Amino acid sequence: MKYIELKNKQLQLYKREKSKFWQIKIKLPFRKSIRISSRTSIFNEANEIALKKYEIFSLDIANNSINNKEYFLKKIHLINSKDLNKKDIECLLKESEKYIAFNKQNIKKTKILEGRTIFNLFFEDSTRTRTSFEVAAKRLGADLINVALKDSSINKGETLLDTITTINSMNPDVLIVRHPEQGISEKISKIVKSCVINAGDGSNEHPTQALLDALTIKKKFKSFENLQIAICGDVIHSRVARSNIEILTKLGSKINVIAPKKLTPKDIKNLNVNVYTDMKEGLKNCDIVMMLRIQKERIVGKILPNEKEYFEKYGLDYKKLNYAKKNAFVMHPGPMNRGIEIDSKLADDVTRSLIQEQVSMGVAIRMACLEILIHNKDLYGN
Ligand code: CP
Repeated sequence: MKYIELKNKQLQLYKREKSKFWQIKIKLPFRKSIRISSRTSIFNEANEIALKKYEIFSLDIANNSINNKEYFLKKIHLINSKDLNKKDIECLLKESEKYIAFNKQNIKKTKILEGRTIFNLFFEDSTRTRTSFEVAAKRLGADLINVALKDSSINKGETLLDTITTINSMNPDVLIVRHPEQGISEKISKIVKSCVINAGDGSNEHPTQALLDALTIKKKFKSFENLQIAICGDVIHSRVARSNIEILTKLGSKINVIAPKKLTPKDIKNLNVNVYTDMKEGLKNCDIVMMLRIQKERIVGKILPNEKEYFEKYGLDYKKLNYAKKNAFVMHPGPMNRGIEIDSKLADDVTRSLIQEQVSMGVAIRMACLEILIHNKDLYGN
């Protein structure tokens, strides 16, 4: 084995006989050792990476701003729920628990992410996601910049990728991206050095929404096994439905999708769900009824459902909720169209509706996501 000690033995580089890459071990005083791969077989490159990591860790520890935990989730980006396995999801839910309590304190501020720079890049409207990422980042001590894209140089003809490259040159730690184009966050993650979080890409995915929904359900039911969850409404255009189906089935729940035929995706059967067009049948034995917004902005060139008829057949009111289990809970990711997807009184009924709880859990889960992804970037990123 080749073995080199640096920085008063606090930094070691070693390469085993059969191993391809140089390994790095950092052992700072009073801290557990951190072992990471340099992911290179060239000593000079490994040496440079090791010194950079050592500098980041000794500085962070001097500032008391980072923990030396190793999380089960090793990812640097959060793009698609389908890329998370059950243990990754459980790791995010577990780490967010401490923030649920933290967010109830009078003083809601830590220094965990002090000195970190986070950009909110929202190319589509948002209230909940944008503000909850902002609250999450600020409570962790990071600097968050809301880029006003309506006033940005995109209006002068600059391409999206040029805008992203410009922001990347300012050395951000995280880019949070919402955009109408499917797959755009993944493309961005390949050209920037920072972590990327998909805050909704077209009708594709919205992973932090599904994680906050899972956290809300976990708080109420403790376990996901044996839960029957209905997801109802405009499923075909819903990134929330897609991400929730991925996450909740991996956690062990059974999903009933209920939608008019025109709003049911053709490939839905591949997703391991039961499919219904009738609320009475689909809600039978459900513990949770998750309603979806009609995505008017994505029903371009097609005929929008008649709102009154839609509410009669698919809008959730007390009468339809009675088809589900006694005491079943209601969820909605928001923004809601009251009187179209959901009866206004039911939406506000705190004995049945978890809608405000979902918003609250959104801050906790996003704090955990920011903490873990930035920590992983320090450990495993370039
Ligand atoms: N649920 C959700 O994504 O809401 P916003 O569009 O307000 O962010």
